[in-house]
Amino acid sequence: MNQTATIMQNEVDKRRTFAIISHPDAGKTTLTEKLLLFGGAIRLAGTVKGRKASRHATSDWMEIEKQRGISVTSSVMQFDYAGHRVNILDTPGHQDFSEDTYRTLTAADSAVMLIDSAKGVEAQTKKLFQVCSKRGIPIFTFMNKMDREGRDPFDLMEELEQVLGIRSYPMNWPIGSGKQFCGVYDRVRKQLELFQNGDHDHIEVRKVSGYDDPIVKEIAGEFLYEQLQEQLQLLDVAGDEFDLEKVSKGELTPVFFGSAINNFGVQTFLENFLELAPQPQPRNSSQGEIEPTYEKFSGYVFKIQANMNPAHRDRIAFLRICSGKFERGMAVKHIRAGKEIKLSQPQQFLAQERDIVEVAYPGDIIGLFDPGIFRIGDSLSQGSEIIFDELPTFSPELFSKVTIKNALKQKQFLKGIDQLTEEGTIQVFQTTSGFDELILGVVGQLQFEVMEHRMRAEYGVDILLYRLPFQFARWVIDDKLDPSKFRVNSQLVKDKKDNFVALFENEYAMRSAMEKMPQAKFLETAP
Ligand code: G4P
Repeated sequence: MNQTATIMQNEVDKRRTFAIISHPDAGKTTLTEKLLLFGGAIRLAGTVKGRKASRHATSDWMEIEKQRGISVTSSVMQFDYAGHRVNILDTPGHQDFSEDTYRTLTAADSAVMLIDSAKGVEAQTKKLFQVCSKRGIPIFTFMNKMDREGRDPFDLMEELEQVLGIRSYPMNWPIGSGKQFCGVYDRVRKQLELFQNGDHDHIEVRKVSGYDDPIVKEIAGEFLYEQLQEQLQLLDVAGDEFDLEKVSKGELTPVFFGSAINNFGVQTFLENFLELAPQPQPRNSSQGEIEPTYEKFSGYVFKIQANMNPAHRDRIAFLRICSGKFERGMAVKHIRAGKEIKLSQPQQFLAQERDIVEVAYPGDIIGLFDPGIFRIGDSLSQGSEIIFDELPTFSPELFSKVTIKNALKQKQFLKGIDQLTEEGTIQVFQTTSGFDELILGVVGQLQFEVMEHRMRAEYGVDILLYRLPFQFARWVIDDKLDPSKFRVNSQLVKDKKDNFVALFENEYAMRSAMEKMPQAKFLETAP
């Protein structure tokens, strides 16, 4: 291997790019903050979702963010730890998440699933899990809030299997919970980590010969010791074996118990995660699989964020590097546009203070200044015509008919709709009934609000949205499609590419349509 290839291999080997998936309030902000502290974060793109809206001062989403105290769009954080370079792709943790959240997951090589141990698997976690699961990426679970009275750990594991269909392997096991929580037994390192209320900076670790070591009894007391023996024996006998191959395929999730707010179990989690999680993985493209160590630079845009700086009407395209070395000023092919562009102002991963990035490697995310030339899914590459597989279009769950208040603004309205769909802010559908109405589809309510706000602020158009009762959308593939079959509690529309999409008010309507048309395919993502 020549020197350049060795450097490239090392850079790839040390990188870990992941997203945290969770339901609001499970503790994602808290966990992210702790992880960043361990790493002494070197770069923050956007901010970790702040409970204080002032943190978003430089974002143009400000108004909406301020009102709600949430971060609207995902951001990227980078830090170094123990020889690794870690990229965390943050996903909006609020109820009002959007398609950006889903798309961000496509840029991650693994996911950390954060669960509130008192609540178990919640709705948003389930949705995000499904997107990760479809990609077959490894998932690492952190059971949070062990300092509170939580659910039985076996129950939690069973829920992972029942609700998500994933087997689990506890890497550590809690000794008691809530007021009685006295720490965890680390099954891998054979040690006790003691939870001391109050002192979170220094965690006492005691090496033991096994979970039946007298030291465990001394620390846990008779009752918890007996309980621990029973539980761990059961796990040893009836639990799954640790199998890295299964972990890599997303069939088995390593589980860690801890408490993010107390910084308990976070470091152990981080260290195990860095060891077990995959480095940047190859990506499918028109030229076959592209290995990250391939010497030529390539990457794709997974997110476009507008107006990060209110002083400028610019957009930032977030690009995941898939292969080769990125260097500032390099010339690359923008395949869809069929032209060469120079990446001279890679406005870095930053929303807050924009840093110029000089070099970056596979697994890293860079923010490119976008004067309107990029679309979600665009591929850039050096020297060759690599086109990465298209990003999936996720099935919307909320729908509104859209009209304008002032008919004279029709032109600006259409332009706005066009650009915002291109950015992936919303999906737009056209009715097929002959009235030429537009229906917007989103996965989170906030997308409607962002849409309304931006149409007014950027295109000077006031829109009216009428919520429609539909809850499901399915792309329909059928040679002999009969539109008259979509009249009761459903409607047939077309997407931007003229694909037929059926909207349903409820699951019953959707099922009966499927039964009536057994020859048709109903797809959850666009064909
Ligand atoms: P999110 O980003 O997933 O929405 O969750 P976030 O970190 O904001 O945490 C949600 C709440 O859970 C916060 O409390 C936080 O302090 C708490 N929390 C996080 N980790 C733990 C833990 O390990 N144990 C316990 N007991 N609580 C935890 P809050 O009252 O909503 O906010 P704050 O007033 O503490 O800021």
